[in-house]
Amino acid sequence: MHHSSAPAKVILSGEHSVVYGYPCLVAAVDLRSEASVEIIPEGIIDVISDKLGRQSFNLAATNTEEMSPIASVAASAIEMAGHRGGLRIKISSQIPMGSGLGSSASVLVSVASACSNALGLRMSSEEIAAIASKGEEKVHFRPSGVDVNIALRGGAILYRKGRLPDSVKYPEEIKLILGYSGIPRKTGDMVKGVADFAESHRDRFEICLRSLGDITTRMSQALAENDMIEVGSMMLLNHVVLCLLGVSSEPLDKLVSSTLSSSALGAKLTGAGGGGCIVAISTSGYEGEVEQKIKQAGGTPFVVGISKEGVRSWTDRQQ
Ligand code: PMV
Repeated sequence: MHHSSAPAKVILSGEHSVVYGYPCLVAAVDLRSEASVEIIPEGIIDVISDKLGRQSFNLAATNTEEMSPIASVAASAIEMAGHRGGLRIKISSQIPMGSGLGSSASVLVSVASACSNALGLRMSSEEIAAIASKGEEKVHFRPSGVDVNIALRGGAILYRKGRLPDSVKYPEEIKLILGYSGIPRKTGDMVKGVADFAESHRDRFEICLRSLGDITTRMSQALAENDMIEVGSMMLLNHVVLCLLGVSSEPLDKLVSSTLSSSALGAKLTGAGGGGCIVAISTSGYEGEVEQKIKQAGGTPFVVGISKEGVRSWTDRQQ
């Protein structure tokens, strides 16, 4: 059996503007998904997921357009390998779905990597990114590629569409406090909402995007210099601009402002918005106080570190 796991992510700055070519500062966090893949003689892709249940696709009777994102990634790998049988794929994930933490990209990168190993393809990172991204296109509208790239590489990166990401230095002991609103949402719907806003408020949209670009650049410098006060200020500015773009919501604003009456240095929504999570940072050692405020405001807090490790693979002896 061939296994791969990949991390979840938190966008520190640049969600939405990244879709339009601006930089995005994103960190891998220590919540992971895992895919285990075995070769089977039947011509099917059999997907067993802890969160979505079981689904099988007959390779002869189904084209990739009709397959689920996970099965379509596996089908691409099967085609690349010229493999005649099928694959059984088991998936487990610690990442809440629809929460802005990149659960789909993490799973698709794990699946692409484990399929590559099971089929002896030895895919490069670029090839894994390419087939996982095709799956992401089925999950949401115009994916920028940021989620797939951070799941592959780990650490913290400054990502721009179509370019190789730059690694960003960060204090190793940094803790991020997440607050889950409990409200799932679809990234694609939020991205479409921003596209509509761009049509109806062109000037304001351009100003927001340029501001998000500047905030992202400043935040990554501050992170590399361990200037957490500046990182926090940039987070707050970032949240305000995302509000103007129309992607925040009352529960997210409530969670963000709840943290400000504690030792938080800053907070913002993270990911597509609408629902999902906020991310906050605090003075080291005061994370518990921020968690408490998030709970009081109706959110579910969890504290995560930045995960150095991107995709990881291993094989056990059953095969
Ligand atoms: O799916 P989420 O919530 O992690 O958001 C992804 C970030 C966006 O910029 C909104 C979309 C994208 O493809 O980059």
